[in-house]
Amino acid sequence: MTQANAIIVGASSHLSKEIATRLAQQNVSLVLFVQNPEDMQEFADQLPTKVEVLPLDIENPSAIISQLEKVWLSIDGAHLVLVNTGLNGYHESLPWQLEQDIIDVNVSGFTAICNTTFRLMREQGYGQIAAINSIAGLRGGPSVAYHASKAYAQNYLEGLSMHAQRLKLPITITDIQLGLLDKAAMQQSKLWLPPLPKVAAQIIKAMQKGKRKVYVTKRWRLIAWMTMCLPEFIYNTRHWKTKKKK
Ligand SMILES: NC(=O)c1ccc[n+]([C@@H]2O[C@H](COP(=O)([O-])OP(=O)(O)OC[C@H]3O[C@@H](n4cnc5c(N)ncnc54)[C@H](OP(=O)(O)O)[C@@H]3O)[C@@H](O)[C@H]2O)c1
Repeated sequence: MTQANAIIVGASSHLSKEIATRLAQQNVSLVLFVQNPEDMQEFADQLPTKVEVLPLDIENPSAIISQLEKVWLSIDGAHLVLVNTGLNGYHESLPWQLEQDIIDVNVSGFTAICNTTFRLMREQGYGQIAAINSIAGLRGGPSVAYHASKAYAQNYLEGLSMHAQRLKLPITITDIQLGLLDKAAMQQSKLWLPPLPKVAAQIIKAMQKGKRKVYVTKRWRLIAWMTMCLPEFIYNTRHWKTKKKK
């Protein structure tokens, strides 16, 4: 492989489009996996590099495995695979279907992508798998399956990195621990709302430096540390409400 190729899985969000644009400006050829390729074509056409947009069937692990294998052959490998897929949702009654959907995308689909990419990069002899993960995985939370799935992703990526080292393979695994983005925007909280270009720039810089784990934006490293340190009776704000009622 002479040309730098990158594959972005889940390329339709604002964040992944910003990352794709910046990679394209660096002359990286792109394969973008999205749910609705037609909706992405206009965006892809205006990028200054070779871009292929393909359908993503993440809820069907065997389909995503063969999609990845096929595209890998057609572009002669890739130096970077960025996993940006993620599903979140909350309902007070914790309906099974919602939990199942989150597990399908964030656990089964995520694992199929990372496992297949690792195998293909092992055969290729090098590469980088980066995943946009969430600090939500540090503790449990109201979107029960979402928080748990992000903990799974963090653990899986750490295991992959250890496996690459055990096999002495130059495969870099980068866990991008994202803080709040849209949620902060919805809450009109300027304090926590990092501008998208800044988020994308920090992600690209961390990938290019081959970081193992990075908090984006940087201030979330402190929040992550505090979150992990808090005892459950403080972390779980429901306890506070119960005390107030008394
Ligand atoms: N946004 C935040 O505040 C935030 C904070 C922390 C971590 N994160 C995590 O960061 C990652 C990127 O988040 P984001 O805000 O850029 O985007 P997002 O809106 O969370 O979605 C990420 C991508 O996943 C795709 N996706 C979701 N369900 C899918 C399905 N069933 N089949 C195929 N594709 C599916 C989406 O495609 P469609 O657009 O076609 O649905 C989108 O391209 C996610 O893993 C997210 O959990 C986000």
